[in-house]
Amino acid sequence: MSKTTAAITAVHGYVPENILSNKDLEKMVDTNDEWITTRTGIKERRIAKKGEALSDFGKEIVDGILEKRGIAPEEIDMVIVGSITGDYRFPSTSNVICDKCGLTNAWGFDISAACSGFLYALDIGRVYVENGTHKKVIVIGGDVMSSIINYKDRATCIIFGDGGGGVLLEPNEEGLGIQDSILKSDGAGREFLLQKIGGSLAPITKENVESEDQYVYQEGKTVFKHAVKNMADVAVEIMERNNLTADDVAWLAPHQANLRIIDATANRMGLNNDKIMINIEKFGNTTAGTIPLLLWEYEKKLKKGDNIILAAFGGGFTWGSIYLKWAY
Ligand code: UT7
Repeated sequence: MSKTTAAITAVHGYVPENILSNKDLEKMVDTNDEWITTRTGIKERRIAKKGEALSDFGKEIVDGILEKRGIAPEEIDMVIVGSITGDYRFPSTSNVICDKCGLTNAWGFDISAACSGFLYALDIGRVYVENGTHKKVIVIGGDVMSSIINYKDRATCIIFGDGGGGVLLEPNEEGLGIQDSILKSDGAGREFLLQKIGGSLAPITKENVESEDQYVYQEGKTVFKHAVKNMADVAVEIMERNNLTADDVAWLAPHQANLRIIDATANRMGLNNDKIMINIEKFGNTTAGTIPLLLWEYEKKLKKGDNIILAAFGGGFTWGSIYLKWAY
């Protein structure tokens, strides 16, 4: 009997309208377009409107998926959200999205894995589909990074942007969909990329909020070194263990943190540039949003049966890779 796999059957993305360009940032911090472009590949990023929260991104994404797939809200069994910028610390943004979209038969939760959030969430979703208990699972990755970025800190504000995307996972009997996953973490990396206050370790107080430690802190060089090595290692590992050569891989969908990290990963995999999904120049680093946003933008170019490798590295540290066969 053939094994039921979990396949992506629809994808949708959302980015806010407001654009923050490198030129705009030149007026805010000591930086310039040339530095940002050559060091990161980013030209502009999107910024949410005041009051626009992750669940508002989620509503656009879910509504888009339902419309594309031609299904009713009641048919969805589960919603998993990968994000570090949910509407609240609790309840989960999954709960809020289910309410806003009328997903009355769904349950769900949020996953905190920074830039690897979508990969972690996708792998959890696939288990529920493969075991037969859930038929329609929506997996969302997205972040409103502008809500936790200090726009006086040039080390971080030039990189991050807002946006997200999601996919519908359904059972597949043709062997398409998710084939394999390798997910990793190393908590020793937490000190290099984090929000220092606001958690149970250091709740926000009147005093510590003046330190501006409620914003993202990143030691870029250290994170860069770990990202280059680990994202490439894990992408190569998943190719090797599935006997995939560079010729077999149709697309790499890499986390969009820095064009130099993306290039290093693709080089190690032996992939030509025309197989790498890239949109970092338009959206910057949307944390858990980058990979579903890529799938959304490249959807029309994807063919049934295409071998696609997803790979990410981020805060935690967390990293990983998922190998899937495109199902439509
Ligand atoms: O997505 C989650 C995981 N995150 C990542 O993967 C990000 C990984 N890190 C990076 O992408 C890079 O480290 C950054 C883009 C954040 C920084 O690039 P870098 O090449 O590592 O720069 P750096 O921090 O080593 O700084 C190089 C120089 C320094 O000047 P000196 O000391 O050489 O005179 C910095 O002060 O560039 C300076 N610099 C800037 N100059 C203009 C740092 N930030 C800026 C800036 N504009 N925004």
